[in-house]
Formats: sequence, structure tokens, C-alpha cells
Amino acid sequence: MLLQITDLAVEVNNKEILSDVDLYIGKGETHVLLGPNGSGKSTLFMTLLGFPKYKITRGEIIFKGEDVTHLSTTHRVKMGMGVSFQNPPAIRGVKLGDLLKIEHGSGEDADLNPEIMEMVNTLKFNEHFLERDVNLGFSGGEVKRSEILQLLAQEPDFIMFDEPDSGVDIENVELLAEKINILLDKDKKPGLREKSGLLITHLGYILNFVSADTAHVLLDGRIACSGNPNEIIEDIRKEGFKGCVECCGMH
Ligand SMILES: Nc1ncnc2c1ncn2[C@@H]1O[C@H](COP(=O)(O)OP(=O)(O)O)[C@@H](O)[C@H]1O
Ligand SMILES: [Mg+2]
Repeated sequence: MLLQITDLAVEVNNKEILSDVDLYIGKGETHVLLGPNGSGKSTLFMTLLGFPKYKITRGEIIFKGEDVTHLSTTHRVKMGMGVSFQNPPAIRGVKLGDLLKIEHGSGEDADLNPEIMEMVNTLKFNEHFLERDVNLGFSGGEVKRSEILQLLAQEPDFIMFDEPDSGVDIENVELLAEKINILLDKDKKPGLREKSGLLITHLGYILNFVSADTAHVLLDGRIACSGNPNEIIEDIRKEGFKGCVECCGMH
């Protein structure tokens, strides 16, 4: 088991947002987290990443066998967690190219590794773009592509994506999905995959291009249902999240 979340409850500004969350992700697996706006998806994401504002009041998070419930974000990232934020902040004074070098573990004075340079190009960026401050004035699509580019440089082995497809046009969703598939070892047979992921998506559009092993539906801060992603998505497409509320008796 790569990630074990047991009986988790989380408060933000003294308000309980998540409760009774149990989630287990095995090595090589991709899980999907679905749920209506405001159900707590990003709260779970930020909590797993260890942001201090998200206060764990109950339960525990075990990552790679280590209890990380109260460990820092830095520690978790060094252990191999990576993220693509829904709305990452702009970082004035930090060039995207320099950030990529740090994320890849090469010195700031070194040239960008040719492999990364190729990824830059396949993600439709060029060398001028690397001179720009991270996310400053980037378009919505550029922000999402830059998040994925940074993950490709960092090569984490557990990756959380918070709505990588939101606000991205269809053509770019396919491009992002192609890279997400690389990041999650989808080119390998399931039993040989080393990388795992938690893919948060509101409408599940990206799942047309990225396969998942299990899906979970978050409703009002609780996991209302877990199961086969194709079945769950099909039901949500037919009946909306309203169908989930009725199905699991959460009125
Ligand atoms: N800083 C905050 N202070 C108070 N409530 C918050 C804060 N951040 C999020 N929430 C609340 O937590 C709930 C879940 O939000 P969020 O995790 O962003 O949901 P999702 O990502 O599923 O749309 C919402 O009701 C939201 O208003
Ligand atoms: Mg969100």
C-alpha cells in the first residue's frame, strides 16, 4: 500500500470540511476523486500535501509506510509526492526555467537537461517562455501545461492532480492527458507500474483519455461511494451527482 488514509477529519478556519475519509491507494494505481463543487476535493488535496491551514482533527495519513499526518509539506515532497494545483500562485522573480532545474535536481547554473527541453517543446512552450516568472500572466491553459511540465522534471512517484482539465480546451486536454499517462506509467502493464496517482476531476472529461483503477465520489466532505470508474462516471453522466446522493442515502 502506498497511501493509507484512515478515518480522516479536517477543519479549515474552525469549520469541519472532511470527515470519516478512508482511502487506500496501492503502488501503480490511479484513483479518481469525483464530486460536485464545494464537496471538499481540494481540501483533501491540500491536506494530503500538508498545508498547515488544513487542520487534521482525527485520523491518520500513512505514506510509504511512514506516518506523515503531522509532517511538513517539504518532507512529503522529498518522499516523492508531487502535485498539479488547480489554481497555483504566480511567483514573481522566479523564472520557470530555474524552477524546472531545481525540480529536476540539476544546479541552477546548469543548462536545462535535453530531455526536459524536449518536454518543453512537446508541451508547446519555447525557450523564451522559460525566462518568464512562474505563472505570472500565464493563460489558464499555460498554467496547466506548466504544472505538468514541472511534474515531468520532478518525476515524483505519487502525484495528485487537482482538476488538470478545468478551463482547458479539448485539444489541450488530450495533450495534458498524454503527459499524465507518461507520469503515471500507463505505457507499462498494470502490474509493472511504479507511479501512482490521485486524479481530481469535477466532470471526469479527462477520463476519456486517462484510465483509472478506482473512482471515489466525495459528497459533503465524505466518501459516499467507491468503485469501478467507468460505472460510476456513466451514472454521474446520466443522473448527475444528485443520483449519488439518492444512491447512498445522503439526503
Ligand atoms: N479557507 C476556507 N475557509 C472556510 N471554508 C473553506 C475554505 N476553503 C474551503 N472552504 C470550504 O470547504 C468546502 C470544500 O471546498 P473545496 O475543498 O474547495 O471543494 P472542491 O474542491 O470539491 O470544490 C467548501 O464549502 C468551501 O467553502
Ligand atoms: Mg477544488
